[in-house]
Amino acid sequence: MSQIHFGHIFHVSGSPAITDAPGALTSIPDGALVLDGRGRIAFCGSRTDIPSEYAASVVHDHRHGYLLPGFVDTHIHFPQTYAGDSYGGGQLLEWLTQCIFPSESRFADPDFATRAAVEFCDRRIAAGTTAAMVFGSAFPHAQDALFAETRRRGLRIVSGRGIQTVGPESAGPLLTSEADAIRLTREEIDKWHAADTGDVDTALLHVAVVPRFSLSVTTETLKNLGELYDSVRDRGVYVHTHLNENNRPGTGEIDVTKSTYQVKSYLDTYDGKFLPGSAVGGSSLLGRRTILAHGVHCTDEELARMAETGTSISHCPVSQLFLGSGTMPWRRTVAAGVNLSAGTDFGGGDEWLIPRVLGDAFKVHISEEGSAGTSLHPAEMLFLGTLGGARALDMESRFGNFDIGKEADFVVVDPARTPALAAALTHGVRSADPDLACEQTLFALLMGLRESSIAQVYVQGRKLNPA
Ligand code: GUN
Ligand code: ZN
Repeated sequence: MSQIHFGHIFHVSGSPAITDAPGALTSIPDGALVLDGRGRIAFCGSRTDIPSEYAASVVHDHRHGYLLPGFVDTHIHFPQTYAGDSYGGGQLLEWLTQCIFPSESRFADPDFATRAAVEFCDRRIAAGTTAAMVFGSAFPHAQDALFAETRRRGLRIVSGRGIQTVGPESAGPLLTSEADAIRLTREEIDKWHAADTGDVDTALLHVAVVPRFSLSVTTETLKNLGELYDSVRDRGVYVHTHLNENNRPGTGEIDVTKSTYQVKSYLDTYDGKFLPGSAVGGSSLLGRRTILAHGVHCTDEELARMAETGTSISHCPVSQLFLGSGTMPWRRTVAAGVNLSAGTDFGGGDEWLIPRVLGDAFKVHISEEGSAGTSLHPAEMLFLGTLGGARALDMESRFGNFDIGKEADFVVVDPARTPALAAALTHGVRSADPDLACEQTLFALLMGLRESSIAQVYVQGRKLNPA
């Protein structure tokens, strides 16, 4: 049965580069989103223009509400479900050792991991995160719980167990042998990749190869993962890891990675060039289905290589503030042509909500030094949290906006559920110029939206059940 949803529609239509998002911003105040019986977008336009063939549809009138594409979180940690706001760690490497590895080790208990999977899906639905690249637990039973609960709740996911073959003492429970690292990853791919439909082009469940970061693995692991990835790339398997996050001189992640591997650049370790002097030691893990989190401190060569290979960055400003990781240079990264998406990095970040990431992106980039500083356009913000994420997941043809034929992933925002948002939308000054007024409204919406504002969440036209 077809459905019609009435509300103020905002989306970035077509397939623009992020720099062209302002021109692709579509705002339909008296909007109608029509879904066909298969949960695909059949019409997106004014309610007065609905094609007559949909006259008998079930009508959902979200009066005074807004319809936005579902949010896409391209970097979030399942085994950190209970580790947001971890205190006492400091910056990245110490925080991992003192707070995160012990937290993640608790997922060794299957009951604990199962409870966490329910909580994780609850938080995702509450935040309107319809699709996510999820950094997984080291424990296969925890990943089984995550995929099973995600399927039960009807969410989209790409995830893989976090691979660690070396680390400090506190990481002990998370480590495996070199052989088990490969075996467990292969088993996860065979068990869960497209397990829901049997077809990667229609699946909601997907698997990624997830080395935690270069310092959690060895040249042997990277060589073996390159071989594994060569053998599964054409099945649409993903790669996910961290890159260039903490640049504290001498003892931070980047310097320690470069001195451990004796490579010219951090990216080389993921690009098959992980031997001393950046000599080739195996196959590259880069490509259109690879998402690297952070990319705060990349060289021009690293950015160019990511753009060339279609590798995306998950931009995580909330986490970068929390862990003192610095600010990704917006203009330089965009100019390099790398696809950008948004990640909460929960629990490195302390927010589950992608619009909170977009809000902090606005704040940190307007604060960049001198001519690097930039005021993000609200359409760029919306792109980052929706279409850019779908592109990073290489599923832009399926979701990310309301173009005809796409699978209908969307959130219904009801400002009345959040008085401060309702007040800002009602009483905020709006320009006489209709384009600027539209941008002002979208900006107020993205900045003021909270979990409480999200009334309903749909994936493939199916309404998801909150907790
Ligand atoms: N680098 C390696 N592991 C992690 C992690 O769990 N969070 C973040 N933010 N960076 C990492
Ligand atoms: Zn992370």
